[in-house]
Order: sequence, then C-alpha cells, then structure tokens
Amino acid sequence: MKIRVLGTAAGGGLPQWNCACPGCRTARADGRSLRQDTLAVSGDGHSWYLLNAAPDLHLDAPELRPGPGLRETPLRGVILTSAELDHTTGLIGLREAMSLTVLATAPVLATVPALPLLDHYTAVTRRQLTCGVPAALDGGLTVTPFPLGAKRPRYAASQAESQSANDWVVGLRLTSGRSTFVYAPCLPAWSAELADADLVLLDGTFFTDDEMLRSTGVRRTARQMGHLPIEESLPLLAPGVRYLYTHLNNTNPVTRADSAERAIVRQHGADIAPEGETLTVKSERPTAALSVRDPCPQNLVDL
Ligand code: MLT
Ligand code: MN
Ligand code: ZN
Repeated sequence: MKIRVLGTAAGGGLPQWNCACPGCRTARADGRSLRQDTLAVSGDGHSWYLLNAAPDLHLDAPELRPGPGLRETPLRGVILTSAELDHTTGLIGLREAMSLTVLATAPVLATVPALPLLDHYTAVTRRQLTCGVPAALDGGLTVTPFPLGAKRPRYAASQAESQSANDWVVGLRLTSGRSTFVYAPCLPAWSAELADADLVLLDGTFFTDDEMLRSTGVRRTARQMGHLPIEESLPLLAPGVRYLYTHLNNTNPVTRADSAERAIVRQHGADIAPEGETLTVKSERPTAALSVRDPCPQNLVDL
C-alpha cells in the first residue's frame, strides 16, 4: 500500500492568513508552510483514493498525474472522515472530473455542502459507508470505517436529523493484502482501533489541551474541539505500530523540527507525517497476529 501525504495541517493551514500567533510568525520567518490535511492512498500504485479533500488541495503529485487518455485520471474516489469544511471544501476543486465517487457515512453524505454544488458540474456517485462493514475499493484496497463521535461541524450544529449518530466523525482502516493503515485525523478519545495496524496517521491538532487559549486567546480547549492532545495520546501508543501525527494546528510547536515537543514525540518512537512524501506500508507483524480468515492468497505480496 502506498500513501502520498498531500497535506498535514489542521484547518487554516500553516501559516494561517489572519494569525500572528508565535507558530504562524515563526513559520513566516522561516519560510515554512503546510497544506491542510489530505492523503492519497493506493493498493496497487495505479488506482488512488483521496482521504479527505482540503480547500488547498493540489493534485500535483507524480502518482496522480492524468493520462494516457485526455481526461483519464488515477483518482478513483474521495473518502471522507467527517463533514468539516477543512476536510471537504476541496471537493469543489474536483468539479472538472468526468465523474466523481464520494464515500462517507450517511450523516456526512447528507450534510457536506460541496456535494449538492458538485451535482451541477459532474456526475457524483455517493457511496454510503457503514462503520464496521468493509467496503471493497479498486486496486485491492478495502476500507472499513470505525466510529469516533457525534461532533457535527459548526455549520450543521442545529441540524435536526442524525443528532445522536456516532458516525459524524470516523476513522478509516485500510487494508491491502496483509498491510493495514489506520487514518484518524480527528480523535476525540483514544480508540483500540489505533493499536492494531502497521501504520497509523492520527490526530496531532494540538500538543496540549489549553494550547489555543495560551497561543491565540481563543477560549476553546482541544478536547472541546474533539481533538485528543498529543501529550495525552503519546502514553497510549501501542508497541510495534508506526505512529505519525497529522492535522497539525498552526499553534502546535511540533511543526518546528527543533522544538522540545517534537523531541518528546520522537522519544515515544512517533513523529509527524512527512508532507510531500510517499509512504509504503508493509506488514511486519508476525502472521500469528493476523486473523486466520483474513489473508487472501493472491494478495500476499505487499505493495
Ligand atoms: C476541527 O478539526 O476541529 C474543525 O475542522 C475545526 C473547524 O474548522 O471548525
Ligand atoms: Mn479540522
Ligand atoms: Zn497561528
């Protein structure tokens, strides 16, 4: 399985246009920037799926180049983990597609504002995902969402239907052969799903719970915003799993390579997701750790 890391910042990116917090000032001074959280994933290196679609999405990675047909693209669909604007407004930038498949849970498909807009521009197929139910994708990939909570985007806070659904926010378990990758950019609380994978990209929005207040004066804690702070997830990381933090807010000192907080992340054997790089997920877990029903003989070669 291959993962192209297209963006690793939380909503607003780094630096955020209207923000003069220490993190944004330092990034401007250093000439550093991060795009908002989006990944592309492939089981065979040919068929690719976007995981979320940020507003500053640029499909300029070599893996995603169109061809050989004039409007042929390796992009097979977009899988959403929530209906938040920073994860969905990039869909509008895909309106030139000849067709577009969007996969998400029922409350997300019913809510994302970009979807009814896109209907005017291209043929949108909405594919509903159900937590715990594996869905087969092109290129030998399987995606299984798992529930992470009922937090609705602020623009949908008064929406009557699906108020209590626990799949407004999900994590995604992607498998290809024996390789397993888990993506959970918004993690209100620790989930056991994050302890069983070869690679996990997880919520690194804030390092500490009161980071927004201290850096920007905004009186919202990380937990109130549905984000488990890094300092609280670090002690929970499971041995034998590779963890990379993503969806990094511009207030978060881990974006600086020389920060004490980045050193702490590394001391726990984790790191931040490398924006612009392509990761290869290979299973290094012993066969005994896998379910006997799980492996398919034709898929034993990991990509
Ligand atoms: C979040 O990750 O908490 C949301 O994207 C925040 C927002 O933009 O409202
Ligand atoms: Mn966000
Ligand atoms: Zn800032």
